[in-house]
Amino acid sequence: MNYRRLGDSDLRVSEICLGSWLTYGGALEKSEAEACVDAAFDAGINFIDTANVYSGGRAEEFLGEVLPRRRRDSYVLATKVFGEMPDGDRGLSRAQILKQIDGSLTRLRAEYVDLYQCHAYDRDVPLEETLEALTDVVRAGKARYIGVSNWNGKQIRDGVRLAREHGFAKIVSSQPEYSLLHRRPERGIMPASAANGISQIVWSPLAQGVLTGKYMPGQAFEATTRAAARGDGFMSRYLGDDVLARVQRLRPIAGGLGLTTGQLSLAWVLRDERVASAIVGASRPEQIAENAGASGVDLDDATVNAIEAVLA
Ligand SMILES: NC(=O)c1ccc[n+]([C@@H]2O[C@H](COP(=O)([O-])OP(=O)(O)OC[C@H]3O[C@@H](n4cnc5c(N)ncnc54)[C@H](OP(=O)(O)O)[C@@H]3O)[C@@H](O)[C@H]2O)c1
Repeated sequence: MNYRRLGDSDLRVSEICLGSWLTYGGALEKSEAEACVDAAFDAGINFIDTANVYSGGRAEEFLGEVLPRRRRDSYVLATKVFGEMPDGDRGLSRAQILKQIDGSLTRLRAEYVDLYQCHAYDRDVPLEETLEALTDVVRAGKARYIGVSNWNGKQIRDGVRLAREHGFAKIVSSQPEYSLLHRRPERGIMPASAANGISQIVWSPLAQGVLTGKYMPGQAFEATTRAAARGDGFMSRYLGDDVLARVQRLRPIAGGLGLTTGQLSLAWVLRDERVASAIVGASRPEQIAENAGASGVDLDDATVNAIEAVLA
């Protein structure tokens, strides 16, 4: 496993991060989830991403059971605030941030998180209020660094400017969706971040499993897959036969390099130094071992061009 520095922070994170949306504290049995976390550490993954809102707080509770068995300085723990909690709390007001960080730390059984991220931009709260509250969280020792997620380039630039003007904590990371099937961050988010010492940690780099090539055009989805469980919603944009047929054309490119289609897709995301880590979800330990194999793969220009031509 290779490690990269996270923005202008002293955190070194594995190129593959373990995410916990839908899976841990959610769809998986506890023993299955524990096996995935063990597999992540075995593979050298030191970076774990969660959010207060995942499975209504149960993802953090699950991590709070398993992570304290390990040395606290052996992993980098990131969580998020914004989404609506079961009691109706939501958003990035000062009151919410100060309340939600304590809720997250209680569920995680942790004294601090390494990275506290705004899960989205809150248009109902002045940005100064949000950044000042996050700064107070850092000063209280409850988070080491702050980051943002799903903010556009202008919102990131505004946050950087305000932090400079008021001496607020620096934003060190941005968490957008980014994959071969979703390249929009290249236009605004990535340049705005790179100019300001902010790394990307990217979500759904496998387009929720589609970029592993396991879904075949014209065929029913296997019952154990996310597409079978949730393919009618958010994921449906990637499940059309045209997209699935194109993804199949990555298979020979990957095979020629001794990689799986999923590893090739993750290596493509990691080809860009502005990306510090690719956050993968996994429902089985074998998936984590496979995904970790994408770290350290160098794709030459001809391969990158061939990949991009398939999905253009
Ligand atoms: N900030 C945000 O708004 C936001 C939004 C979404 C996610 N995230 C973060 O990003 C993380 C990753 O998102 P994601 O779960 O959508 O990522 P993903 O890595 O694109 O998809 C993960 C899913 O793909 C399948 N999969 C993974 N590796 C596989 C392999 N080697 N072979 C076959 N199937 C494989 C598994 O589903 P099945 O086995 O069930 O098919 C797995 O749960 C989340 O856990 C969360 O931490 C953040």
